[in-house]
Amino acid sequence: MKRIALFASGSGSNAEKICAHIAKNPEMEITLVLTNNPEAGVIKRARKFGIPTIVFDKKSFYETQKIQQILKNEAIDFVVLAGFMMLIPESLVKQFPKRMVNIHPALLPKYGGKGMYGHFVHEAVKAAAEKESGITIHYVNEQYDEGDIVFQAKCSLSEKDDAIGIAQKVLELEHQHYPVVLQELVSQLPD
Ligand code: GAR
Repeated sequence: MKRIALFASGSGSNAEKICAHIAKNPEMEITLVLTNNPEAGVIKRARKFGIPTIVFDKKSFYETQKIQQILKNEAIDFVVLAGFMMLIPESLVKQFPKRMVNIHPALLPKYGGKGMYGHFVHEAVKAAAEKESGITIHYVNEQYDEGDIVFQAKCSLSEKDDAIGIAQKVLELEHQHYPVVLQELVSQLPD
């Protein structure tokens, strides 16, 4: 059984799709959901699946090894970030080499980096009058949105799409692909 930890900071709609999809696979499980936001919708969503949640603060994340230790104690094999808005500390990146992925709501390397998250991404895409946007699933390294790309999917945009419309199209793509790509990556891990 492969054990997956999921980090999220917000609503957790991707987390919910992932939990539902992985629940059907007897070879893996979402063992733990971790969040930096005590108000995050993801907490309620995880509870629906009976998955334990851990809330942590910025100080323990950046100044202690608490999270690293929890992941070790829980024998976590793979980490998935789904709308997690904090930079991952170096020691945590090193703990999961090619075993930690993130989803970004644009076609990296465009519209990535510090400050490029959530609606800011879609507003920038709109301002640039892009004809397409999409999603990028990538391994996580010490920089925002710079790890090796695993998967991308595109959607076309029309002039009528505002930032909210773009966000909806992109979120739909995320829900469609992220659970499947994650399952594929975890199923390829050595025993
Ligand atoms: C998703 O669109 C995800 O790609 C984005 O936050 C949203 C979270 O939605 N992540 C980033 O912008 C990370 N840079 P959700 O909480 O409903 O899954």
